[in-house]
Amino acid sequence: MAAVRESLLPVLRCPRCLGEGTFRLDARERDAREVREGTLACSSCDLERPVRRGIVDLLTDPPGFVEREADGLERFAEVMRADGWDAEKILALPDVDLGYWNAQANAMERMLADVPLHPGQRILDVGSNTCWASSRFAREGLDVVALDIADNDLQGLGAGDIHFEGRGIFFERLLSVMYAPALASGSFDHVFCCEVLHHNDRANLDVTLREMFRLLKPGGRLTVVNEPMRFPLRPKLDHAEEVAQFEGNEHVYVMHQYIRAARAAGFTVRLPKLRDALDAPFDRSFVPPGRLGPLKKALRDGPGGSVLLKAKRAARFWWINAIRGDANLTLYCVKPR
Ligand SMILES: C[S@@+](CC[C@H](N)C(=O)[O-])C[C@H]1O[C@@H](n2cnc3c(N)ncnc32)[C@H](O)[C@@H]1O
Ligand SMILES: [Zn+2]
Repeated sequence: MAAVRESLLPVLRCPRCLGEGTFRLDARERDAREVREGTLACSSCDLERPVRRGIVDLLTDPPGFVEREADGLERFAEVMRADGWDAEKILALPDVDLGYWNAQANAMERMLADVPLHPGQRILDVGSNTCWASSRFAREGLDVVALDIADNDLQGLGAGDIHFEGRGIFFERLLSVMYAPALASGSFDHVFCCEVLHHNDRANLDVTLREMFRLLKPGGRLTVVNEPMRFPLRPKLDHAEEVAQFEGNEHVYVMHQYIRAARAAGFTVRLPKLRDALDAPFDRSFVPPGRLGPLKKALRDGPGGSVLLKAKRAARFWWINAIRGDANLTLYCVKPR
């Protein structure tokens, strides 16, 4: 599918003057898919920003925590390379038998089943990382913008080229921050956040959700999947230490902080069926409410049995997922018309 960079221009917002659709593009080098090298200039404030290797760079003056995380991802990409990660492995994502990837694959299948995505609609993949989800959405016929703070080739927007060449698809790639995305208001039908909202401190979590609301058209949908959470018996107080090596700006919230932030931004929030909302943890297999054996079935069908069994199953579910706790959160949010 051929696409031209010019179609992205009305969707951009100048990070300096906040003018929408104000960029003009001076293209120096193109391939069959896109402008590879060029300069964007804002007609309102004269800001000039580069397009390099097909990636639009609107990340102006990033704060230290953004720079450190982007640098950490570059170091992490080196570790991956040394571990044998290459284009073939990136193309196989999310179908890799690792806990993290099983969770991403499940979340994507559920989203494709639950959220009406129509070819031609525009979707933003926030914190696209390896670009596996952008690639999948592009294959579904969606017009995709991948947004991240990192542009390296395995853990950043540079990975887009692997998907373009390996799959014959295209999506746009934008260096920008989710709490101030350089994108025009009301320009997206969908926003996808997979394991990314927790890369915000508390104040920026609220701001990011307000920004996602701004970007969506009325009736547009924000799908949040695989957000890590705190639980009463797993408060994850040492969470920052776990990610210190690569300096990820990671935080972790209780379920209702995510929900409250989305509602405060104006979204109508719906959880999928509860057993799906609190999703399979990465590092152990999910124990869904058990199948009914014949005895249990008889109990359920007998007088009062159904209520008792339902209560037992609910209690077990809440114990495993919401108290002992090691689940990730899925939220379906809609911007009211
Ligand atoms: C855990 S990874 C997300 C993974 C990806 N969505 C997936 O499904 O595999 C977090 C990503 O968010 C990006 N990120 C972190 N802070 C960000 C910010 N402020 N704005 C945009 N992206 C950010 C990181 O660069 C990283 O690629
Ligand atoms: Zn401007």
